[in-house]
Amino acid sequence: PDSGVQVCVIGTGYVGLTAGACLAYLGHRVTCADASADRVAALRRGTIPIYEAGLDELVEAGASSGRLSFVTSNLDAVHDADVVFLCLPTPQDADGSADLSRVLAVAAEIGASLKEGAVVVNKSTVPVGTAARVAEALGRPDVHVVSNPEFLAEGSAVRDFLNPDRVVVGSDDASAAERVAALYAPLDARTVVTDVASAETIKYASNAYLAIRLTFVNSMAAVCEASGADIRAVTEGMGADRRIGTAFLKPGPGWGGSCFPKDTAALVRTSEEHGFDFSLLRAAVDANAQHRRWLLGKIVGAVGGDVRGRRVALWGLTFKAGTDDLRDSPALELAHDLVALGAQVRAYDPTVTTDVDGIDVARSALAACEDADVLAIGTEWPEFSEVDLSEVASALAGDVVVDCRNVLDAPAAAAAGLLYTGVGLRGVGVVPTSAAVDAALDGGTAA
Ligand code: UDX
Repeated sequence: PDSGVQVCVIGTGYVGLTAGACLAYLGHRVTCADASADRVAALRRGTIPIYEAGLDELVEAGASSGRLSFVTSNLDAVHDADVVFLCLPTPQDADGSADLSRVLAVAAEIGASLKEGAVVVNKSTVPVGTAARVAEALGRPDVHVVSNPEFLAEGSAVRDFLNPDRVVVGSDDASAAERVAALYAPLDARTVVTDVASAETIKYASNAYLAIRLTFVNSMAAVCEASGADIRAVTEGMGADRRIGTAFLKPGPGWGGSCFPKDTAALVRTSEEHGFDFSLLRAAVDANAQHRRWLLGKIVGAVGGDVRGRRVALWGLTFKAGTDDLRDSPALELAHDLVALGAQVRAYDPTVTTDVDGIDVARSALAACEDADVLAIGTEWPEFSEVDLSEVASALAGDVVVDCRNVLDAPAAAAAGLLYTGVGLRGVGVVPTSAAVDAALDGGTAA
């Protein structure tokens, strides 16, 4: 069903492309603009530049319905739009705050070309006060700016967009908020309509809360391992409490990706600017890095405390499974740290086919293990649990597996003759040498 509403989406990254394709699917006429001519040409051919389940089908459906098109000119894209979504990158500045230069530059560029009474929507994660700055850059008193943060997670972006837990719309103009909320009406989702500052804050609060939760779980995993408990049983028991809930309780090598590190740093910074020391969040950020070091210490411990000249096989490089995104990936950071300590790292990741940052990339999980002294697992790709562990055992020169995602079956690994250690699991003693690792990395020399 064609809603007749003309929507423009500026920026075709994860958020913009997903939003554009999904809004077209919901019946709106969507024009997506991106400054990259190559990207636009690819999208017109139906080639999706990112790895995201279900997105190619939606883009194709949008193209054949005639409701989804791609252009390079922002001005062409906005001139007949009723609603303009800004889905631009807001990278982290040197001081941790969000860099708004792209958002403000585009606002200044499109201001004069907007249709009378159009609504501009901030979908990028931007600090409180950005809506006002965008309004100022637009220079159009008849145009209202609405905050409509996006909560999609990479790998499930389309599903998250079409089945949201909530739609958040914030504006200081009720009718502008209503017009944006109406775009999502076919989803029948719970909608939180609020003021613009609160909407902007909800996104940061949610991401920071989730990051703190994961840091807590990762710290509990370390405690469990030391005290003889099993984090899987502990989180199952915790999650059964409805006030806690079961989601987002899996220990890993630490949180990463394009959102959590950037958003937590920005919230710490914004709080500081307002005179509040968000010590809890600062501690979570520090503990996240410390947790990764703890796992690094296990890998180093597995080869006797010194990785110089040793071969490490690493399964997984992306920041989580289901995405090809390497931004702020704990697995990739582990690889970098290992290289800095003098190890030879050979990695395998189903989405990475060329060597990255001096890290050798193998063609298969087994090939990565060939003659390696230790196997580490950094990303929870489901295919890793399907690899024949007896073949892994015979390919490896050593016998230890440090599973930073708890994806392998511990008894099966033991049966294959491997010495298996995970995150927060009982019974397998590989002693971390974090202190030695810290000294080596922070002192700038190998152990
Ligand atoms: C996140 C938020 O979920 C999303 O709402 C927001 O819009 C952007 O940031 P994303 O970064 O794509 O999405 O990934 P997510 O699946 O949330 O994972 C974030 C990090 O936490 C990853 O490094 C992941 O491996 C880690 N994680 C997640 C765990 O270690 N354990 C878990 O149980 C869940």
